[in-house]
Amino acid sequence: MQVRAPTNIALIKYWGKADPESNLPLNSSLSLTVDINAFYTETTIEHSSSLEMTLNEASITPTSRMLKVISALSPENSNFKIQSRNNFPTAAGLASSASGLAALTFAVANLVSLEASPEELSKVARLGSGSASRSMFGGLVEWVKGDSHESSYSVQLMNGGFLDELRLLMIVVNSQEKEVGSTQAMNMQSELARERAEYRAPERLQRIKKAFEEHNFEEIANITMEDSDDLHYIAENSEFSVHYMNDTSRKIRDLVKEFNREEVLAAYTFDAGPNAYILTRKTHINTLVRYLLSVLKVKSGEVFTEEPLHNLEELQSTAKYEIEALFEVKVSSTGPVKTN
Ligand code: PMV
Repeated sequence: MQVRAPTNIALIKYWGKADPESNLPLNSSLSLTVDINAFYTETTIEHSSSLEMTLNEASITPTSRMLKVISALSPENSNFKIQSRNNFPTAAGLASSASGLAALTFAVANLVSLEASPEELSKVARLGSGSASRSMFGGLVEWVKGDSHESSYSVQLMNGGFLDELRLLMIVVNSQEKEVGSTQAMNMQSELARERAEYRAPERLQRIKKAFEEHNFEEIANITMEDSDDLHYIAENSEFSVHYMNDTSRKIRDLVKEFNREEVLAAYTFDAGPNAYILTRKTHINTLVRYLLSVLKVKSGEVFTEEPLHNLEELQSTAKYEIEALFEVKVSSTGPVKTN
């Protein structure tokens, strides 16, 4: 059996754990599921005589979080051969844990023929990685924080329609392994994180949900940037200051601000790494890409856009800030799917 699961990008971030054991978060979060055709984890699973796992063709020792997922779905038997492959850089702050743990959850559940709703599976995926909980659905997804294993799960708020008009640019600034994982950073967190989780995040969540209902892009964009800035302020100003954004990330943030000078047409958001996601509308994507690529130099020439990009070389002749790749992607309308 083979499955694929998408990743997601949080507009209101999950940052801080109320219960590290079962990944109960300090605040509810909200994300867009990223095009499953662009980035995904593909996992094949079969019965075996012991538990064997590989990631991108290399043998791995299952983490305690992976084991939790497996035993939640199949308490009696964990003898599976599980092979996973990411089609994007692992641990680059691209939420590979989201697609990875969502794929693992979906694969095991299907193999053991567990009849469970996506909400139920989102609880199990959460045990593996908080953000994986949101990857169990396509579209716009809220992970409701809850206060117990049973009450902390994800729900789909919207799919298609307005979301089909949106585009995401994923800019790989650095695909190398990040130094401080999100769990480690969340564990170091402080009063600052608790204040955000208690007041600012819930207030932003209500506002952004309303903005999505009203198709108010400007409001969605402003709230998204506010929450990303807040997370990085908190990470940088905690006792063990963690700087996830580098000079190029900050340049990207400034470019988006500059692009928005007269009208808010795009929003940046950064997770626990230097790479950027930029949210915009389909109608502005080409202008935005051209604007960015006159400053950001794509080292390997890896630029993936829906429409062909004319005169890329000329555009790049003035660009100074090196990036690894730029991808234009849609919002995924689906969560994990069976592919075989
Ligand atoms: O994927 P996790 O559970 O280690 O945490 C991810 C945290 C952020 O990506 C920074 C924010 C989010 O909500 O996805």
